Amino acid sequence: MKAQLFFLMTILVLGSLLTTHFWYKLDNNDRHVEHLQHVAQRKSLQKPSVTCKDCNKEIINKVSKIYSEAWERKEDNYNKFRSQLGSRCQGFDKAIITQANTPVGSKLVYDGEKKRTLQVNQEIFSTFAKGHPFSNKTQQTCAVVGNGGILGNSSCGKMIDSAQFVIRCNLPPMANGYEEDVGVKTDLVTANPSILFDKYGALMGRRRKFVESLRSYGTSMLLLPAFSYGHNTPVSLRAFYTVEDFESPIRPVFFNPGYLQSLALFWRSQGLKTVRLSTGIIMASLALELCSEVHLYGFWPFSFHPHYLHALTNHYYDNVQAKTKFHAMPAEFDFLLRLHSQGVLRLHLGDCEPGGK
Ligand code: CDP
Repeated sequence: MKAQLFFLMTILVLGSLLTTHFWYKLDNNDRHVEHLQHVAQRKSLQKPSVTCKDCNKEIINKVSKIYSEAWERKEDNYNKFRSQLGSRCQGFDKAIITQANTPVGSKLVYDGEKKRTLQVNQEIFSTFAKGHPFSNKTQQTCAVVGNGGILGNSSCGKMIDSAQFVIRCNLPPMANGYEEDVGVKTDLVTANPSILFDKYGALMGRRRKFVESLRSYGTSMLLLPAFSYGHNTPVSLRAFYTVEDFESPIRPVFFNPGYLQSLALFWRSQGLKTVRLSTGIIMASLALELCSEVHLYGFWPFSFHPHYLHALTNHYYDNVQAKTKFHAMPAEFDFLLRLHSQGVLRLHLGDCEPGGK
């Protein structure tokens, strides 16, 4: 009887302790968000009157917890993740189609339309990269620049440009005042064929405007997913021939659909559920194979600032929304945040210090 009474009392005491702790945490989280709103108002940012009804408190609290500690690179975690990626996807040798990895007669299987294949003939083969696309040794630092609105007013340009290898997504604008926030250096830039359709008339008419728009990327590689969907192939080949005919210094290369397929399977095996990987996570994954330090900028698929809570546009240059039918950017972000806290890569959220590092 005594033992039963003692047991009951212990349960009651433990229960009340847990409830108090739970309410304290909830209250603390709310107070934290209120505090951030207050800071935002004091800083009189773009939209200081934000009520933050759209803010996702869970992500804000997660981010502020992770960012309350200084980031530290963790060699073991990085090596483990990199070797997993390398053995499953072999991005260093296979991400880009070359004449060595895809000889005449090979069969390409489109990663977006499994039933579509293409047998490589001499003409297509002649458009493939001749040498190995990447320098033999691992790059020291890589910056992968996503297009998120968080880059606006970030002053991250110098820091981005200080990386040895800079990757950008979807031909983003860099001139006309964006330089300070996004930098000017590019070693590899992707181009989704939808841009070629929407902005350059699918390259069916005059092509000078397209060639001129490529100037800001200098001699970088222009990476096109030519064999992901059937309609990507002719427009990507037109981009290739346009660059050749106009003698533009940019170097067009094609994504290997086999690599994209194995990368999709890799992320699925990690628990990421998405119809298609976004360009940003594809490039971050490739960078992890190419470089010993990977820094991500412009990755923040939410409509409010993580630290000041003011409203943000989807891109730093416009507010065109992502296609949620295909991409699951918030879920991808969660994985990237995990890699950040494991010291595998560094996700830069918010402003960079003036003058760079
Ligand atoms: O082609 P896609 O729709 O994937 O991308 P985008 O809008 O051109 O942006 C390039 C990449 O930046 C995306 O693939 C995302 O990984 C990242 N991004 C982000 O994290 N948050 C945003 N608000 C916008 C883009």
